[in-house]
Amino acid sequence: MAKIEFLDLGIQPIANNFLLTADQIKNEYKFHLTVTFDEETKLVSLSDFVPPELMFNDSYVYYSSLSQTMRSHFKETADALIREFSPRKILEIGSNDGVFLKNFENEMAIAVEPCGNFAEITKNLGYTTYKNFWTSELAEEIAFNHGRQDLIFAANCICHIQNLDEAFDAISKSLSSSGVFVFEDPSLLKMMERNSYDQIYDEHAHIFSVTSLKSILREYGLEIFKVQNLSIHGGSNRIFACHEKTRKIDKSVEENLTKENNFGLNSIAAYRQFSKNVQRSKDQLLDLLSELKRKKYKIVSYGATSKSTTVFNYCEIGPDLIDYIVDTTEAKQGKLSPGVHIPVISPEDGFDNSVNYAFLGAWNYEKEITQKEKIFLESNRFITHVPHVRFIK
Ligand code: TYD
Repeated sequence: MAKIEFLDLGIQPIANNFLLTADQIKNEYKFHLTVTFDEETKLVSLSDFVPPELMFNDSYVYYSSLSQTMRSHFKETADALIREFSPRKILEIGSNDGVFLKNFENEMAIAVEPCGNFAEITKNLGYTTYKNFWTSELAEEIAFNHGRQDLIFAANCICHIQNLDEAFDAISKSLSSSGVFVFEDPSLLKMMERNSYDQIYDEHAHIFSVTSLKSILREYGLEIFKVQNLSIHGGSNRIFACHEKTRKIDKSVEENLTKENNFGLNSIAAYRQFSKNVQRSKDQLLDLLSELKRKKYKIVSYGATSKSTTVFNYCEIGPDLIDYIVDTTEAKQGKLSPGVHIPVISPEDGFDNSVNYAFLGAWNYEKEITQKEKIFLESNRFITHVPHVRFIK
């Protein structure tokens, strides 16, 4: 059984490393982004990982609380988990700005977050916070200080962890005997179905299928007992896992495994086809943007996402095609986008009558954004590449 490289997304920067100073621009870190399928575990991962400290540090700029979609999502998630499992002790790995945790009382919840700026936020909200990466050593320290946990939760975080063996081993040892480990990350099946190759960037060390998770979790005595398919982040899976043979297995597990197998996720042919689809998407997007530019239309991008870093660097789309990117995140405004150096400004400063077309970098928030930008849509169009290059009606 081999590990097979199937996709080459070219030279890429750190997806969330927005640049301010001349020094940052001169010393920008770049790496070759290629993707590998492991025939044995069926896991899809980056061929080479970026050192975690370069991505997750005190100037990390992704705030989960910034969109209404995410605030509602995490409130509903917390309410549902409380109803179903009545946990008394909760730990969240990758707690970001506390958007999930703040639905729990201070005394029952622990935050783990490597980015200092975010660890500070949950600490100030009154939660015991460990400013650390999730490692065996940290898990032992937490177990010593607080005992084992009834619920371990992680959203868009486990796929960031390069060493899954250590992560799952530490989780298994931190979970109480009847505890549940619930985590959600982008779905490999959805990515392949929708050709949303921009889910692939430095932070996403792995793109999970249920199939691959089942086989890796088993190594650590953990078993998936339920899977929920979510629309969040353009299609994610929420995985419910527990110690082996402690809970009844829901039929959603087998259903998801079957869906993945039927699509072809368990053999390399589907990945080779995906790679061809990605190349076609690049050609079509470049054709469309170049054609609009030739006609002298003003094109901007909406949402300075990590995903759009992948698209712009892979397709080599720079300020010659996209005048600027608008984004509500203050920490990104006034800076240049990673790699291709497109200026980022606030929507108030740049999303006005002069714009004809907007590439939807934040396509996963299409509903929220198209509702908010009804006036723009009266005479202008959003462009997306998902599931194929098109105007959004
Ligand atoms: P997101 O798609 O969640 O992230 P990523 O690809 O980095 O994981 O990021 C959404 C970005 O879009 C974030 O920087 C905030 C911005 N945004 C806006 O500017 N306006 C909006 O209305 C919304 C919903 C998001």
